[in-house]
Amino acid sequence: MTIAPTTADARWWREAIIYEIYVRSFADSDGNTVGDLNGITSRLPQLAGLGIDAVWLTPFYRSPMVDGGYDVADYRDVDPTLGSLRDFDLLLARAHELGLRVIVDLVPNHTSSEHAWFKAALAAGPGSPERMRYIFRDGRGSDGSEPPSDWIANFGGPAWTQVADGQWYLHMFAPEQPDLNWSNPVVAESFEAILRFWLDRGVDGFRIDVAHGVAKDLKEPLPNLGIRSVDRQLRYEVVDHPLWDRDEVHDIFRSWRRILDEYSPPRIGVAEAWVMPGRRARYVRPDELHQAFNFDFLQTAWGCSNFVDVITGSLAEAEGVGATATWVLSNHDVLRHLSRYALPPATDTVAWLLSDGTQPLADLALGSKRARAALLLMLALPGSAYVYQGEELGLPEVADIAPQYLQDPTWERSGHHDKGRDGCRVPLPWEPEGPSFGFGSAAAWLPQPTDWATRAWAAQEVDSTSTLELYRTALRWRRTFAADFAADESLTWIERGPAVLSFSRSNGLVCVMNFGPAAVTLPDGKVIVTSGELDGGGLLPGDAAAWILTK
Ligand code: NOJ
Repeated sequence: MTIAPTTADARWWREAIIYEIYVRSFADSDGNTVGDLNGITSRLPQLAGLGIDAVWLTPFYRSPMVDGGYDVADYRDVDPTLGSLRDFDLLLARAHELGLRVIVDLVPNHTSSEHAWFKAALAAGPGSPERMRYIFRDGRGSDGSEPPSDWIANFGGPAWTQVADGQWYLHMFAPEQPDLNWSNPVVAESFEAILRFWLDRGVDGFRIDVAHGVAKDLKEPLPNLGIRSVDRQLRYEVVDHPLWDRDEVHDIFRSWRRILDEYSPPRIGVAEAWVMPGRRARYVRPDELHQAFNFDFLQTAWGCSNFVDVITGSLAEAEGVGATATWVLSNHDVLRHLSRYALPPATDTVAWLLSDGTQPLADLALGSKRARAALLLMLALPGSAYVYQGEELGLPEVADIAPQYLQDPTWERSGHHDKGRDGCRVPLPWEPEGPSFGFGSAAAWLPQPTDWATRAWAAQEVDSTSTLELYRTALRWRRTFAADFAADESLTWIERGPAVLSFSRSNGLVCVMNFGPAAVTLPDGKVIVTSGELDGGGLLPGDAAAWILTK
């Protein structure tokens, strides 16, 4: 295995740039309208040329694809629509040859209802060991016809579904995603074997889906929570929540860390943990996982003090446990940040999507300026950054997907009140022409806007002003800083508002971000990258950022 010099050491993840590949929407090699593993392999050289350190692949396991693959029917096989285990091995080998590490997605909170374990649980009946792998309960009411509690699933609707013999099972997502019972040691043993299966194949780590939800307090009587959305239950109303962010979850991650550390160089675990402020660091204590996504950064509304606060808080939190911070602006579950920054503050984005992106109209030129600036900010910060496929092409959210194309279970489960996440999952445009702009030889599984011809990778790589070129330039510089950043993981603030934030790194890099409106003078030194043009006098305009080398 060859690993590029910047990532060769055992602490490679601390400052790594990790690119998220939403497998179904990246590149389709066989013309079946859905992206696949061979499609990824064919595009790896382009990703390596971008200057990233690793890729994270969303689930590609056997799945009925009710939730885009987050409904796993077999954790040890590849879905035939996406490739085969051999294709995976080839992908991994090619990535390693190119110096890229590969992180795969692990989904431990739930399986697909098509998984053999769940089928066996249904067949075996109440009280059986097979049922103990999942969370089955008798219903309430004299005839058990009411669900065991009032809990609401994340995609809408009740979190319990009744089966033919009258029992109910828990699913915190779609009914086709039954939750596993992690207080049953058999479940833990099965997952340790699954971890080893992929580690032995050579993967460099795992992104752990719903890491904050795996351990649950299900002692009777189950409490009614009396609130419609589980997300609100977590965030604002219930601290000792029976389902989310329980302390017991950390025992699981400690045991996984021991397994990861058996491998050399050590493999990593990354938590997807939507938790209350201050709780994230618990997932990255020295004997637990390595990283946790920083959703506070992703949710930060545009504004100088907002960014200063989230950066200061995130750095302090990570430092407190000896971890590095992570930074992320977009992923396959949220509105693309270019569109988020293009909308007025506090826009109700669910309503905006329902209006097909017409109420209010997004100012995409403004969103694009801000998104470009945010990239320079993110890449200059101490820690590791995640880039979501398509942001390097400046893709906005596709808000006007017609209902007949929507596949996110959120659309149906919400009674057509929430279009869900398909708008950030539209397949990538690689070429300015073709039935799916080079995504594949046929159409794509979600329609692409016609103006994406101009956003195609091939169109942007020959345009020095494109967003792709900005990503390439900034990531290449970032790579040259990697050793210095690893040696000194701190920053020194120069300015913290009201309109400008700026800080320096010990290698002499200064990052200045101007939230405007007035243009500002840059410090002395060599301006190496700017997110937009400087004005005539060399001043940095509003909604822009610049990197200056001062040493
Ligand atoms: C988080 C994943 O990112 C999302 O896409 C999925 O729907 C849920 N977890 C459930 O697995």
